[in-house]
Formats: sequence, C-alpha cells, structure tokens
Amino acid sequence: MANYILAIDQGTTSSRAIVFDAKGKRIGQAQEEFTQIFPNDGWVEHNPEEIWSSTLSVCVKVLKDTGLHAQEIAAIGITNQRETTLLWDKETGKPVYNAIVWQDRRTSKFCQSLVDQDLSDKVQAKTGLLIDPYFSATKIRWILDNVPEAIVLRDKGNLMFGTVDSFLLWRLTNGQSHKTDATNAARTMAFNIHSQEWDEELIALLGIEGVNFPEVMDCSADFGVSDVNILGAAIPITGMAGDQQAALIGQACFEPGMVKSTYGTGCFMIINTGDKALKSEHKMLTTVGYRLNGKVTYALEGSIFIAGAAIQWLRDGLKLFTDAKETKALAESANNDDSVYLVPAFTGLGAPYWDPDARGAMVGLTRDTSVADIVSAGLRSVCYQTKDLVGAMEQDGAQFSSLRVDGGMVINDLVVQFLSDILGIRVERPKVTETTALGAAFLAGLHVGVYQSIDEISELWRVDQVFDVKMDEDRRNALYSGWLEAIGRVKTKPE
Ligand code: G3P
Repeated sequence: MANYILAIDQGTTSSRAIVFDAKGKRIGQAQEEFTQIFPNDGWVEHNPEEIWSSTLSVCVKVLKDTGLHAQEIAAIGITNQRETTLLWDKETGKPVYNAIVWQDRRTSKFCQSLVDQDLSDKVQAKTGLLIDPYFSATKIRWILDNVPEAIVLRDKGNLMFGTVDSFLLWRLTNGQSHKTDATNAARTMAFNIHSQEWDEELIALLGIEGVNFPEVMDCSADFGVSDVNILGAAIPITGMAGDQQAALIGQACFEPGMVKSTYGTGCFMIINTGDKALKSEHKMLTTVGYRLNGKVTYALEGSIFIAGAAIQWLRDGLKLFTDAKETKALAESANNDDSVYLVPAFTGLGAPYWDPDARGAMVGLTRDTSVADIVSAGLRSVCYQTKDLVGAMEQDGAQFSSLRVDGGMVINDLVVQFLSDILGIRVERPKVTETTALGAAFLAGLHVGVYQSIDEISELWRVDQVFDVKMDEDRRNALYSGWLEAIGRVKTKPE
C-alpha cells in the first residue's frame, strides 16, 4: 500500500522535497538552492521558472534516492514561502513578471499612501494584517501598474494570481487546478480572515480587480492530482499551508497558547489562539493558524525578515567564513564583547517595528573587534529579534512557559542556549527540525488516511533537547537594552 508522503517545501532560498513515512519519519530529502535577484535597493525577485524547475528536480531526485516509485506516494503536501506573488497567463501558464518576493519593499510608498488614506484600521479588521509591502496585494498592484501584458491578460479574464503554493499546484496539475489554502490566502491582504472569503471591497480599494484569485480551501483537502507526465504517476495533492503555519502543525502546536518559532531565512513566531482571532495592540499580525474540516484556528504572528539571511550575508556578502557550520566555533572563540550589535534590517524592520525604510547597521565596534565578535553578533541578533516579538506578544496578553523552535539555525546549540537565556524562557528543540515539511506531510496524510488525527500527530512529536535558562537577569537586561539602543539608531519612524 502507498504509505509515503512527499512534502514539497518551496522556501525563500531553496526548494526541498522530503519523503516521510506513516510514523512521520524522514525517509529521504533533496534540496536545491536557486538564484536571488536584487534588481534595485530593497527589491527581491525570483525567476518563476527556477522556482518550478528546482521544485521538480528535487522531487525527482528524492524519489530516485529513496528508490521509491511515484506510485508508492500516497499524497503530496505543499508548503511554501508565503506572500511571494506571481501573476501568469491562464492559456500558457507563463508568468508575466518575476515572482516578487515577500522581502521586497518596492511598494512602500504605495503602502504609505494607503496608511495616509486612513485604511489601516479597515485592513487590520478584515485581514488581521498591518499595511506593509510584505503582503501580496500591493505587489499585484505593482505588476499591474508596470507590466503592460498583465493588463491585456486581465482585460481578457486570463490573468491568474497565486502565491507560490498556487503556482506550483497549477504547474503540477498542468493547469487543471487554481487553488490555495486559508493560511496562504490570509497573507495576501485581500482575504477576509473572518468570513474566509476574498474581500471585494479591499480588492477594489487596492485596484486589483479583474485578476483571477484562487479558490480557498482547508489545509487538508483535495487540491488536485499531479499530471501523470510530471512525476510518473497521478498523485493526489491533499495538503497545503504557508511554511510558518505548516511548522506550527509540524510542531504539534494544536492547543491555544502553544507557540513555535522557526529560524529560516527570516524568523516567524506563531502562537495558537484557538477559535478567537485576537486583535493585537502591539503590532503582531492576526492570521489563520490552520483550517481543518471548515474550522479555523487563529494565531498571532510576529514576523522578522532577516534571521538565517544574516548568516548568509556574513558568509556570502562579507565572506567571513565558508560554511554556516563554522559559526558555532567562531562564536565560541569570540571575546563575547557584549557591546557589538548587528542589526540586520537589510529589507527594513518587520515586527514589532514595521519600518520598511530602515536599513542595517553594526554598532559598538572597537579596534579589537574580531570576525568572531561580528559572527557572534549576527547569531545573537536573531535571538534579540525574537525577544522583541516575545515582549510584544506578552503585552498582548500571551504567557510563555516554553517555546518550540525549529529551522536550519537551531542545530546550533549555542544559538538556542543564548535564545533561552535572553528570553528567560525554556526552549524546546524537537527531534525533527524540518517541521515545515513535516507539517505539510501531516496535512496531506490526514486527508488520505496515512495519519488519522491531530492527536496522532501530537503523539509523533518528540523533543530532542530542552534548553533551560542559565543567564542571570542583570546580564540579560543589560544585553537587551544595548540591543534596543542599536535598534533605535536604524529606525526611521517612531513607533
Ligand atoms: O513570510 C515569509 C516566510 O513564509 C518565508 O519563510 O522559511 O523561506 O524564511 P522562509
């Protein structure tokens, strides 16, 4: 019996395919990085054909490496970098422009004009989001304003919009299915998270009418079937969620109050708030945690744009080391010069500052500041940013007894210990840190009976290591106030 699930995790810097078995055990994995395109200050694009070809290639590779035939795959789950925006031609499937990536800030002036029209409250009430270039809607508008072909297609009724999940689904089903799930829809700034429908009023206000929006489904549902010529079998696609929500599921955060933080390109902390869409008074986002059997579980989210990307910049931009694995030894050898801070606001500041025009800085340098100190400051910046989120969520009434972490960076014990120390909270690292892909696999498997229930998924979650707080409060406070001072130097607007 086909009992394996293929999870596609199309992230910001790489595409991955992972096969899981019925116990949630990883059987094989393939990964491919792809090109980051930076055409202008604050602009970030991906070539849609590279998104597609890298995804296809890792799927084929993982099947080959595991020796599995496509027919042995019970279902496919898709998880993805969220908000990244694609528009394509319904007839040809050809995108009219590069994918505009979630990090891209090109619509910051347009967003400011929306704020100036006093639309913030309306947008927050309907979508749970704060007006920011981060979300898809203003990126759609930019393409309409700048790509003449988009207007021609829109006027013919042939212009398709999708985040990466929908685009991959369209390609995998050879143009047969134009769908998304509620978590991805919730990140577009055009979706009403209460009525669970595309919001016609916002769509008109943003000037993006006439575009074909995908049908919004539960996260575990019939999304379509892969074209037999693509992977060698017609495989049902039955799971879909934005990567951060997929991680919430992979971390089995099914109870209100449970919280996870994922350290990939950025860092995203999500707390389950149950059936209540809580409005944040401290600039967190209200979003859909997951939607199963028509029932929405809401969440509060804090989004940081640069986490692992800061380490990537230290490696590729400054060339301070050649492999991220070296950062642990480097940080261990640092003087622990507490006065050095790196604020990686390369694409502005996300939560809780929401300052798209801020840019990065390194402060507190002295003649004896070493490469190791800078690397250590880069690692610590991720933890300080997490503390900013925890502080905002606490002010919103959240109480943290522990935090579940995952993503590439958390294999570094030093980072996780510093995180626990600076937060003053116990941190739990699970056995499977690829929780994003695991969450997508769970969603797909739930629909086809490979996994029976979310209770079963909770039982499959296993802790690898618990990091208890070791730092004393005085040191914690001193370090964090230095961070806040550094942040103060890059902010362009008051909170
Ligand atoms: O909202 C953006 C987020 O979904 C990107 O995730 O893992 O590619 O940093 P990641």
